[in-house]
Amino acid sequence: MIILIILTAIITLLHFAIPTEQHTFHIFHIALRKLYFLLPVMAAAWYGFRAAIFMTLAISVLFSFHVVLNWTDNYMEQANQAGELVSFWVVGLVAGRLFERERSLLKNLVRANEETLIGLVSALDMKEHNTNLHSQRVRKYTLLLVDRFRFDEAKKRTIGMGALLHDVGKIAVPDAILLKPEALTDEEMQVMRKHPAVGYDIVNRIEFLRESAEIVLAHHERFDGSGYPRGLKGEEIPFGARLFAVADVYDALTSVRPYRTVMSHEEAVVEIKKESGRHFDPKAVEAFLAIPRQELQTA
Ligand SMILES: [Fe+2]
Repeated sequence: MIILIILTAIITLLHFAIPTEQHTFHIFHIALRKLYFLLPVMAAAWYGFRAAIFMTLAISVLFSFHVVLNWTDNYMEQANQAGELVSFWVVGLVAGRLFERERSLLKNLVRANEETLIGLVSALDMKEHNTNLHSQRVRKYTLLLVDRFRFDEAKKRTIGMGALLHDVGKIAVPDAILLKPEALTDEEMQVMRKHPAVGYDIVNRIEFLRESAEIVLAHHERFDGSGYPRGLKGEEIPFGARLFAVADVYDALTSVRPYRTVMSHEEAVVEIKKESGRHFDPKAVEAFLAIPRQELQTA
């Protein structure tokens, strides 16, 4: 936005300042006038249709001052400049429409990718948890945590995708281990503990999910270094994975599981607070405590 304002100011000032009398100067003067066309196109590309219209309006006003002030009695030149104003609007409207369409196509593409991935993890959740919602709920809780920090949209999407896909590596865990109701033996536990690395290998193959793959790999790390697979400690763990850890445990404690009673929100909060600085990053716990209860329950 600031770049656009500065560029508008530079083009306008130079256009006003360069005289029209001498032939050489006039060439520069006209060239600068043509640079006005760049502004609605840039506004359209960066911010969409409404911004393109707003920018076209702004340059029309700025340009009209010049027409009135510099060409007071020259009706032929004024008519010529009025034609230029129409050209601004043609460019502004066409660029605005085209970039708006591009943005909406991109949005549809992102949504289609997201829905495909939700389909994949739903199938896994159905098998393990007998419900297709675990991963989606964990993603929503993680995104509520992410909202407490100043991240851009791309970063938020990356963390959300990491949360959604965290257990995708369980596809390689045999059912006899994954669905075993009793405690796992040491060997079975070793097989189970491979799922973050397997998930990483799967997700890392998809280019737009490369960063999310880091969260998948680190989703069982613990703040005090007692997690797996790498035993990362504190800030060595990607921040998204530290936020995810709180979201995952909250969901595990408050959702219905066949072999455990469900905890109330308050009981889960007590458990999460107890683990601050051990399992969880205190910053993540603090962010979790700042989420209004209602937002968690409607997630
Ligand atoms: Fe996991």
